[in-house]
Amino acid sequence: MKKVALTGDRPTGNLHLGHLAGSLMNRVQLQDSFDQYVMLADVQALTDYFENPQKVKDNILEVAADYLAVGIDPELSTIFIQSQIPQLAELTVYFMNLVTVSRLERNPTVKTEIAQKEFGRSVPTGFLCYPISQAADITAFGTDVVPVGEDQLPMIELANEIVRKFNRLYQTDCLKESEALLGKTTRLVGIDGKAKASKSLNNAIFLNDPPEIIKQKVQAMYTDPDHIRISDPGKVDGNVVFAYLDAFYDNAEEISSLKQQYSNGGLGDTALKSLLNECLQKMLLPIREKRRFLRKKDILEICINGTRKAKSVAAGTLAAVKSALGINFFNEMPMQGENLY
Ligand code: TRP
Repeated sequence: MKKVALTGDRPTGNLHLGHLAGSLMNRVQLQDSFDQYVMLADVQALTDYFENPQKVKDNILEVAADYLAVGIDPELSTIFIQSQIPQLAELTVYFMNLVTVSRLERNPTVKTEIAQKEFGRSVPTGFLCYPISQAADITAFGTDVVPVGEDQLPMIELANEIVRKFNRLYQTDCLKESEALLGKTTRLVGIDGKAKASKSLNNAIFLNDPPEIIKQKVQAMYTDPDHIRISDPGKVDGNVVFAYLDAFYDNAEEISSLKQQYSNGGLGDTALKSLLNECLQKMLLPIREKRRFLRKKDILEICINGTRKAKSVAAGTLAAVKSALGINFFNEMPMQGENLY
């Protein structure tokens, strides 16, 4: 039996280089040896965009296209849509009993998000509870490994707490603990050097950005403001161009000698940026090309097939969970929801 990998993204916009470095590159690798699930987390996206559900809808197929474009292969990975699997919502309800409000309020990722969104004391319950729903996503598929960025570690920790508590309380082993698999770059900085690359901060290079935009964004990258003449010594730390070269340039030795040269003086930002631009253009061209040939109808079909498979697996876990709780009254079979498609 292959081990299971599962991860997901909120479909609120196209994916960018932060996703590529943090998780997508790992997923492309993992699919050869793992039974991999890749989830379009539209339910979770709605915790943010419940006032504008159209935005979530519009981005479902966009993100699915990004998956296919980077090389997530529907023959090897199960791509599915979270909202079409009601079993995940059901699991969430049973898990909610096992988590206190204060435990949720301590989640560092959620805490940061609450501050960013300026919710104050008016946090919607759905938002506060999204880590519980994420625990349902993870456990529903018997996940072993979750390939994610660093900000998702608290979610996996909570999922494992729920698993231990559930299994202990109801004397079962139907839920499984999982572990994170961090990408080579756990947190890619934005082009402004201020925070992590993100769509909402408008500081990311998107996988489907056209070549001129990529070039412009590389040119706009934050380097070392005190590095004025080529001969001046420059700072490597906090220099966005080096952060991106570290993440995406495949010759590490060359980069380390460039870093040396840059800090000694004698390497200009223009030359450095042109090296990065070339590297990114080369990497993103085939992704953009692949995307161009994807047809909406085929993407949708991939999502439907993946969702059908994911649903029957989640139904199996839900049946085991209900049986552990002693509420499988009518002996429902795992496949009961199957003919919804
Ligand atoms: N929280 C993740 C993000 O914002 C998306 C997500 C939802 C997820 N469910 C998941 C990631 C389960 C890993 C596993 O990117």
